[in-house]
Amino acid sequence: MKLRISLLCVFLGFLVLFLSPPSMAKFVVEKNSLTVTSPDNIKGTHDSAIGNFGIPQYGGSMAGNVVYPKDNKKGCKEFDEYGISFKSKPGSLPTIVLLDRGNCFFALKVWNAQKAGASAVLVADDIEEKLITMDTPEEDGSSAKYIENITIPSALIEKSFGGKLKDAISNGDMVNVNLDWREAVPHPDDRVEYELWTNSNDECGVKCDMLMEFVKDFKGAAQILEKGGYTQFTPHYITWYCPQAFTLSKQCKSQCINHGRYCAPDPEQDFSTGYDGKDVVIENLRQLCVFKVANETKKPWVWWDYVTDFQIRCPMKEKKYNKKCADAVIESLGLDIKKIERCMGDPNADSENPVLKEEQDAQVGKGSRGDVTILPTLVVNNRQYRGKLEKGAVMKAICAGFEETTEPAVCLSSGKCLLSFGSAKRN
Ligand SMILES: *[C@@H]1O[C@H](CO)[C@@H](O)[C@H](O)[C@H]1NC(C)=O
Ligand SMILES: *[C@@H]1O[C@H](CO)[C@@H](O)[C@H](O)[C@H]1NC(C)=O
Repeated sequence: MKLRISLLCVFLGFLVLFLSPPSMAKFVVEKNSLTVTSPDNIKGTHDSAIGNFGIPQYGGSMAGNVVYPKDNKKGCKEFDEYGISFKSKPGSLPTIVLLDRGNCFFALKVWNAQKAGASAVLVADDIEEKLITMDTPEEDGSSAKYIENITIPSALIEKSFGGKLKDAISNGDMVNVNLDWREAVPHPDDRVEYELWTNSNDECGVKCDMLMEFVKDFKGAAQILEKGGYTQFTPHYITWYCPQAFTLSKQCKSQCINHGRYCAPDPEQDFSTGYDGKDVVIENLRQLCVFKVANETKKPWVWWDYVTDFQIRCPMKEKKYNKKCADAVIESLGLDIKKIERCMGDPNADSENPVLKEEQDAQVGKGSRGDVTILPTLVVNNRQYRGKLEKGAVMKAICAGFEETTEPAVCLSSGKCLLSFGSAKRN
């Protein structure tokens, strides 16, 4: 429905993002290219903005026949009710459904089209503007259920281009397009650098559940890639700062460390109960330091072991989200606790923490990468990944980041394996 600068919204009132003012914040829309192959009079290549759900075919392409439904043009209702089906007949091209923006969540449109048999969805913007990223709605129970099940790719296209496609369709022309994600991830060399902007908070609802699930599922592949030297992974954590005038307020004291310099929202959004934002900041800092210390000993992949063990052994629900539990995990992994503590510094000090300062600086976009504003965010070769945070989909994006012929075996084999894994899960 709208561009979701979710972190800005989540935050309670008066803490501000440590970034340039919003007017200067750079949000880069990740694109795939869309080529019209017929009819002749509208042939050509256009940009389209990849939706932040479903499964974009990173590294691949898809040719399809564009259909614009006679009814339910916005796709907000089930197509069944109108007797419309997009299932393509055997031997024919997959159906790419064109829908109009408006009236309901983007994700709902895509979900309705998928249920009716669409292979991909193009949403035509309803105003002339620069392309934006279609994101999932704020977590609410009913939408969360179907978002998980969206498996087709989707993209937003400009209003004027949507108009051309509709005109051609209403003229009775066969409209064929090719969606191409091969250039959506740069692939300059034989090593992929990627980052995950994550959070140790395990009680923030659907987004946290999805993130934890992903980290658990992806750990094996991530460790194989890292141990083989195919990737260089870096975890990141977002923090906020408290405006100077409020550093002594109750809210900032409960949400921040280092005198208001690094803050996180209260997990329950209630200052009086449970864990506070500052508990989350401290654990995030510990996870950063686990990475730093593990990386120094040339075993950066131990971070994946730490975060997954911590999730299992130290959940907020069981009131174990604390230093004691974290230290037990650190010890079990043979990491140097003293080094990690030194790296974390004193959370009560009225001074910068170099590790968190670096994170705040890294939040601001550089080069082709926009500011990180959606949490979680995955960045592959300095491009923000769009799509569902799911093992198979993310593998595709990472594998698309290797220069041709330098992909590790896990990429070549995972295609098949993950596909069957994916379809087993879906059917
Ligand atoms: C999503 O898929 C799961 C597993 O296949 C299924 O149990 C669930 O009912 C689906 N949800 C919706 C909203 O269709
Ligand atoms: C991890 O170590 C490598 C060298 O082994 C270094 O290039 C990289 O910058 C380190 N990452 C972080 C976040 O310290």
